[in-house]
Amino acid sequence: MTAHEKPTPGPILLGIESSCDECSASVVRLDLQGDRPATVQVLGLATYSQISLHQPYGGVVPEIASRNHLETINAMIAEAMTQAGRPPLDAIAVTNRPGLVGALLVGVSAAKALAYAHDLPLVPVHHLEGHAASLYLRDSASATKEESATDEGQLPLLLAIVSGGHTNLHVVRDLPQNWPQGLLSRTRIGRSIDDAAGEAFDKTAKILGFPYPGGVWIDRKSRELHGNPEAFDLPRALPQKDNFDFSFSGLKTAVALQTEKLRKENQLEERLGDLCASIQEAIIDQLAGKIERAVRAHGCRQIAIVGGVAANSRLRGRLEENWKKIGCARPPLYPQLKYCTDNAAMIAAAGAFRYHQGHALMGDARLTLNALAYQES
Ligand code: KG4
Ligand code: ZN
Repeated sequence: MTAHEKPTPGPILLGIESSCDECSASVVRLDLQGDRPATVQVLGLATYSQISLHQPYGGVVPEIASRNHLETINAMIAEAMTQAGRPPLDAIAVTNRPGLVGALLVGVSAAKALAYAHDLPLVPVHHLEGHAASLYLRDSASATKEESATDEGQLPLLLAIVSGGHTNLHVVRDLPQNWPQGLLSRTRIGRSIDDAAGEAFDKTAKILGFPYPGGVWIDRKSRELHGNPEAFDLPRALPQKDNFDFSFSGLKTAVALQTEKLRKENQLEERLGDLCASIQEAIIDQLAGKIERAVRAHGCRQIAIVGGVAANSRLRGRLEENWKKIGCARPPLYPQLKYCTDNAAMIAAAGAFRYHQGHALMGDARLTLNALAYQES
């Protein structure tokens, strides 16, 4: 897309996300180049993060999450609609899989009720497809940047979905308008066989006494305390395996033992920066190492990182250093920080792509939509 080919405004969707601990609603507009989706403009986004409610427990408590979604969801929808100037909607998109089933049901019920009452098409969205769609989100602050518009130059795209719940590598060969049904199971080349990368950050951070979610703290302390990433020799699992799977569970035990030792020697405070940097390096080295190998093996032209861990400064730094060396044609792509963590704009975007393809529920079929705790894609 060039600057003088101005996209034309397409359908407007309300998106709803309540799969875990973020309660979010968003209004987006799909912008078209001819009849082909180019970008998704965010018109309104309201998110309530439940992090402080779950913090005392060191992780998300499902019952607390669903009850809070119930209290918050209407306010988020009203706020997103107000920000967008209450435009007429073309469809409603909602995360219906995978996630905490009680939490998902709150968003699904709200979306069903609104779709039925206003006689709008309803588009069920896979949460991870939402993360993938977050690459194409724009708002007025980024309106001049064209890199994340959809175009063939990025294909095949090495897509890493790296969050608190998932560590998946995908080779995506289609632009969103041609994404096949079951996109994620069709394109997946690797995944974590135990903990997700974000979970590895959170669990090791908890051992060190940082609040949830710990990834942010490990990242921050490594930088602020100028930690040495090679100070502690922490395990990297499966490096010799000729596949693109990950394993992070062994790291927890190693960090627990190291932390205990430093505590006994009264050295923990003094060595905290080194320990944080070494933990971060152990996680990112495994992650980036496999991403780089996958790019080479599949001839990918660009790397895209989505999900909460995409915010990690060491991961970004390493890929920034290496993308040319490993044969990418373009620099790595990340959604803006606010679209990396769970939000409804990405759900509305994925819904808009599916709606454009003609996939939406109408009539009584809308009332049969259910929430699924687990589904591949
Ligand atoms: O995508 P997300 O908001 O929620 C899930 O769907 O899981 O990701 C949250 C995860 C948490 O595990 C958090 O620790 C991690 O993203 N995270 C980070 C950073 N910021 C968030 N991990 C490492 N470095 C960061 N800067
Ligand atoms: Zn997520």
